[in-house]
Amino acid sequence: MENYQKIIEDIYLNLKNVNDPGKVANYIPELGTVSADNFGINITDIHRKSFSIGDADKKFSIQSISKILTLTLAYQLEGEELWKRVDVEPSGNPFNSLLQLEADFGKPRNPFINAGAIVICDVLISHLKNPKEDFLNFCKDICHNNNLAYSDKVAQSEKETGFRNTALCNFIKSFGNIKNKVEDVLDFYFYTCALELSCAELSQIFLFLADDHFLCQKGKTVLTESQAKRVNAIMLTCGFYDESGEFAFRVGLPGKSGVGGGIVAIHPDNYVITVWSPKLNPKGNSYKGMHFLEQFTTQTGISIF
Ligand code: DON
Repeated sequence: MENYQKIIEDIYLNLKNVNDPGKVANYIPELGTVSADNFGINITDIHRKSFSIGDADKKFSIQSISKILTLTLAYQLEGEELWKRVDVEPSGNPFNSLLQLEADFGKPRNPFINAGAIVICDVLISHLKNPKEDFLNFCKDICHNNNLAYSDKVAQSEKETGFRNTALCNFIKSFGNIKNKVEDVLDFYFYTCALELSCAELSQIFLFLADDHFLCQKGKTVLTESQAKRVNAIMLTCGFYDESGEFAFRVGLPGKSGVGGGIVAIHPDNYVITVWSPKLNPKGNSYKGMHFLEQFTTQTGISIF
C-alpha cells in the first residue's frame, strides 16, 4: 500500500494539464468565484495512513456530498422507518429533477437527489433542537475535527437563487411528505450543502463507511455494519444521478459527487479517496475527478468488482 503516494502523484501529473472541457458551476453564484485550477487528492486507508497531492488541504464547498452526512444522521435517528419517506431506487434523472415526484406521490426515488435530501432535512428538523448547530456537531464528532464550518456566503447565495429546490420542497409538501415549514427546511438544506471541508478532511469524515471498527469522538459507532452496507449500496447506485451507471462502470466504487467539484469514493474495508477539481461535466460531476478515479482503480486493480 506504500505506493499509493506514487500512484496518486503519477495520475495527478498526468491529468493536471489535460484540457478540461468542464465548467465551474455558477447557478449558485458564489460557487462560480472558485478558481477552476484547483486540483487535490487524498486517500486515507482504514489504518489511518493518509496520502495527499495538490490542493488536498484547501477547504471547498462540499455541496451534495453532504447528502451522505444528512442521510447518515437521519438513519441513526430513525432506523428503517426512514425508508417510508424516501426510496432507494436510482432515478436516472438529473439531480434537481421534478419529473418523477408526481407519479411517485411525493416520495423521492432516493436520498441523494435534491428531492430526497430535502425530505431527509425535514426528518432531521423534526428530530433536532438546533438543526444547523446539531448537524455541524455531528460532523465534527465523526470527523474527529472541530475546525468545520458552513459558508454563510454560499448558503445565502443559494437561498437567493434556489428556485428549483423551492419548487421541489413545495411540491413534496403538497403530498404531505414535508412536515415542517418550507422556509425552515430549505434554509437547513442550503446550509448543509454549504459545509466546507478539504479532501483530507472528507476522507477522514467518511472512514466510518470503510472501516467497521470506526468510532466517533464520543467513542460510538456511527452506523451499524448493515446500515453502512446500505449507505454504500445507495452511493453505488444513486451517487451520481443519471451518471451513476457510468461511474460504477468506469470506477467500480460507491461514490458521491457535489457541484463544488468534489467526489468521495469508498472502498469498504480498505480506504476512502477524495478528489477535488471544480470543472464539471454536463451531468454535474467533476470531469477530472471522474477521470482520476477511473485511472486510480484501473492502475491499482483495486475496486469492489
Ligand atoms: O441543491 C443544489 O442544487 C446544490 N446545493 C447541490 C447540488 C449538487 O451538488 C449536485 N451534485 N452533483
